[in-house]
Amino acid sequence: MAMDKLNQIQRAAQQQFDRQSERYGKGHILSDVSDVKDALGRLDWLKPGRALDVASGTGHTGLYLAGVGWQVTLADISGKMLERASATARERGLRVETRQHAAETFPYADAEFDLVTCRVAAHHFSDPAAFVRETARVLKPGGAFLLIDGSIEDGQPVAEEWAHNVEKLRDPSHHRLLSPGTWTKLCEDAGLRVVFSELQPFKQPDLNWYFDAANTSPDNRAKVLELIRTAPAEAHSLFRLGEEDGKIVWWWQRLVLVAVKA
Ligand SMILES: C[S@@+](CC[C@H](N)C(=O)[O-])C[C@H]1O[C@@H](n2cnc3c(N)ncnc32)[C@H](O)[C@@H]1O
Repeated sequence: MAMDKLNQIQRAAQQQFDRQSERYGKGHILSDVSDVKDALGRLDWLKPGRALDVASGTGHTGLYLAGVGWQVTLADISGKMLERASATARERGLRVETRQHAAETFPYADAEFDLVTCRVAAHHFSDPAAFVRETARVLKPGGAFLLIDGSIEDGQPVAEEWAHNVEKLRDPSHHRLLSPGTWTKLCEDAGLRVVFSELQPFKQPDLNWYFDAANTSPDNRAKVLELIRTAPAEAHSLFRLGEEDGKIVWWWQRLVLVAVKA
């Protein structure tokens, strides 16, 4: 898909992340890649080869991979995020390729990659099924897909709706949180076998920081605070919604899923 033919959801994400790119660099919560390291530890049979990091942002995941011997392509819909990723790669003496494109259509040939990663981004995608199909297409047989994203356990419609509304107000480029069951079905439909899937709690440490990261408007901040004040019991208990040292905190359910192409 040409970059001038983006749909409304893709365009919203591109504008949001072009505007906010300076907030996603060093010191951002995502710069801690221990989740990626742990997940790769489960793929000890996979030797470094070609990796595609989809929706790479400023490159925390892809640059980690490059540092441990992978030949990495960083892909993102936002040119500004990719510029920052390239600058960091230069600072760290790492060589990576950057490609600007949407996650729903890839400009690569079949079976080019040994690993496709996508971390904390898929909840923005307008068509997650197309993204998984494209992932399966560009993976070599035996190649692996690592997905890390905000999620919500299956069978929690009330908490899911609450989280969706909070996220949409905080960052209007958010699209949808998918459950582990939905991701597994998308993988199976695309010919990928899920070998690991786990919801891991991940702390949202300070609502104000979280608002600032997305440049949430004052109106929407007020609406989120109201949603928090009136949160249903299901959301309260699932996300362990609370206050610590005057800061509003909760625990996201972050999905770590690994799937393999037959
Ligand atoms: C939170 S950042 C990603 C963080 C990064 N993966 C990491 O490990 O630090 C989310 C990224 O998703 C990208 N994005 C959102 N929707 C996209 C889409 N449809 N196609 C490609 N990239 C997209 C945004 O531009 C942004 O850079």
